[in-house]
Amino acid sequence: MVALKNLLTACFSWKEYPMQFFADTADVAAIRQLHEDHRIDGVTTNPSLMAKTGRPIMDVIAEICDIVDGPVSAEVTAADYENMLRQGRLLADIAENVAVKLPLTKDGLKACAALSDFGIMVNVTLCFTPMQALMAARAGAHFVSPFVGRLDDIGQQGMDLIIDIADIFDAHQMETEILAASIRHQAHVLEAAKAGAHVVTIPPKLFDELLQHPLTDAGIDRFNKDWQEAGGQEF
Ligand code: E4P
Repeated sequence: MVALKNLLTACFSWKEYPMQFFADTADVAAIRQLHEDHRIDGVTTNPSLMAKTGRPIMDVIAEICDIVDGPVSAEVTAADYENMLRQGRLLADIAENVAVKLPLTKDGLKACAALSDFGIMVNVTLCFTPMQALMAARAGAHFVSPFVGRLDDIGQQGMDLIIDIADIFDAHQMETEILAASIRHQAHVLEAAKAGAHVVTIPPKLFDELLQHPLTDAGIDRFNKDWQEAGGQEF
């Protein structure tokens, strides 16, 4: 009975909110653990993350799609339209929840439009300007991925990009979801949430950090101490 209750709790207690948290990694073991601990809504991978696994992309994406029900981004490596389309269809065939990730180039947006017409979910990646995001939305992208951290790296305010895209998409009721990417620290998650990003894709180590505060730990210690000093019964 207890086991059944635990199972039901695990299945139903995580609420599905409009703002989603994806894991930004191709590490299957890390994804399994994150999903168990935090019930992640999806996963983003890229060729750099995939290369770190040292395994074939098809196998890795299939395993991730078995773990997570939500969108799993798998990126093409081709640069030309025909091969993007070919690779995109191969990736989309792996599982229904694959989002084909395409770079924000002319060929990438052409492939985005074609794959979207086939009913395939597309994540247009490497977005660095609001105009690029608008072009991706026009091409039917399900997600557009603005890279916050990489703009910070070159001395710009990466978060301004999320704010501008959110304003434009709101003004024109565009359905493309803003997937805040290249997230480096807690403040990025907070600011992306405030700016109205639909999704934030988060590096694995940051998930636990989002939970932490020294006063939470001190509060638990204090409650335990008070309980024991008062002779509180174990239960
Ligand atoms: C996600 O889709 C991106 O591939 C990723 O967030 C890039 O992050 P980085 O700039 O830390 O490599």
